[in-house]
Amino acid sequence: MSRFYLTTPLYYVNAEPHLGHAYTTVLADVLARYHRLMGDETLFLTGTDEHGQKVEQAAREAGLDPKAHVDAVSPRFAAAWEKLGIDYGFFIRTTMPEHEAVVARVLTDLWDRGEIYADEYAGWYDVSEERFYTEKELVDGMSPAGNEVEFIREKNYFFRMSKYQQALVDHIEANPTFIVPEKRANEVLGFLRQPLGDLCISRPKSRLAWGIPLPFDADYVCYVWFDALLNYYSALSFGFGEDKSDWWPADLHLIGKDILTTHAVYWPTMLMAAGLAPPRTILAHGWWLLGEQKMSKSRGNVVRPLDTMDLYGRDVLRYFLMREMTPGQDSNFSRELIVERNNTELSNDLGNALNRVVKLVEKHFGGRVPDRGAYGELERALAGVARETVDAVVAEIGRFHPNGAIQAVMNLSRAVNRYLEARSPWKAIKEEGGRELAGTCLYHAAEALRFVGVLLHPVMPDKCADLLRRLGQDPAPTGFADLLEWGRLEPGAPISAGEPLFPRYELETD
Ligand code: MSP
Repeated sequence: MSRFYLTTPLYYVNAEPHLGHAYTTVLADVLARYHRLMGDETLFLTGTDEHGQKVEQAAREAGLDPKAHVDAVSPRFAAAWEKLGIDYGFFIRTTMPEHEAVVARVLTDLWDRGEIYADEYAGWYDVSEERFYTEKELVDGMSPAGNEVEFIREKNYFFRMSKYQQALVDHIEANPTFIVPEKRANEVLGFLRQPLGDLCISRPKSRLAWGIPLPFDADYVCYVWFDALLNYYSALSFGFGEDKSDWWPADLHLIGKDILTTHAVYWPTMLMAAGLAPPRTILAHGWWLLGEQKMSKSRGNVVRPLDTMDLYGRDVLRYFLMREMTPGQDSNFSRELIVERNNTELSNDLGNALNRVVKLVEKHFGGRVPDRGAYGELERALAGVARETVDAVVAEIGRFHPNGAIQAVMNLSRAVNRYLEARSPWKAIKEEGGRELAGTCLYHAAEALRFVGVLLHPVMPDKCADLLRRLGQDPAPTGFADLLEWGRLEPGAPISAGEPLFPRYELETD
């Protein structure tokens, strides 16, 4: 059994959870569930990023002190994840004293070893990104992202990031799966072709009081990113019961492409300085777009995930998010697209196959799985497709592509429909001596659907539990070990049809 430790970004508590946040968290949940089914011991970390200027500002706007604000907003993320069925192992908050203690310890260690030094600094500060830009980096007097900047001159503390520039380049070049997709690795390498500066890791308390105090200068707090990135490491020491620090390095950090530099440059160099290994993989996914524009709080065009969930249910939303986006590329979000995926794939391909099988078994076989019968060429072919589907799912999850896994399973669903049509049990049953043939066909179709139920369980836990229950199976699969051999479905197991598992939706006109 191997170990798999994965993380989401820590979400800023300056906004309500929106679909962009929900996507990363569902992606992490789906990958974590697949790894558990594949037999890996899995740690899954998510949480909230609670210090820094953005949060302080949001608190001020809400008329609250920062602590009261973060205490009010952080649980809204936990509540949203609960509704979306996110089965995380630990929800870290960067205001937890255990996390703050680890940050203070790392800072002290780096300071003692000369990895951090004090210097006078002048530059253009972007409040919304919480980082400095040089004059040269500005575009028409604004940050490259188009935010307003202010000129600031002050004493600050710096991490000797530049010292690790070559080591980082070497690491990226030697490890093709360190930053994926590849175009993001190239982007980081491009960035690293310019000399890398040192990183300002302090903020004077006079300007920003809401942060972890620097252990070696009480007039300063720690830069929010330096604090927040360390969560991936600190959580292991206190978040999962006994100390799990030996699980470092993390196997996978899931992030959006907008926070690539902090994760792929700041974080690994911080780790190198601290004598720790870089994470194994950083996956930067693309953005959800609404009408070709990035969904974001500042643009005011966010979709609240729970609203969509209320319309189509949790699992249809999870399915859509996983099916529609290829990690790395941008995707459009709309109700039309959800309804279309639901109707063509879940209702037509999967729902139909299931309905046909359970209805016929109910009607003609007293609601009991028929005997296996004699395997013909078509049965062997279907079993072959099912076996290949398991391999494809494992391979796609290995490269963090749930959409590839889903497509493989949907191919299997379509193969079940084709198989049913080829054998036409609804006709066979009416023919002289056709009962056995119909029973054999329904057995094998049901067996293939059992594979589908296990293989899609991480994406749609409720629907697949229901599917497996309808086939008389344990709704909670023990793992892919259940799929080692064809024919595990026991003849005689009780089948129940019920209402269609995947109803079609019409697009409501509003
Ligand atoms: N607090 C930092 C992360 C610190 S990690 C140590 C942060 N928080 S955030 O709340 O602003 O964003 C969290 C994540 O949401 C990012 O990965 C970002 O890419 C993602 N998304 C925000 N809007 C998005 C879309 N429209 N689409 C997809 N993901 C997007 O950054």
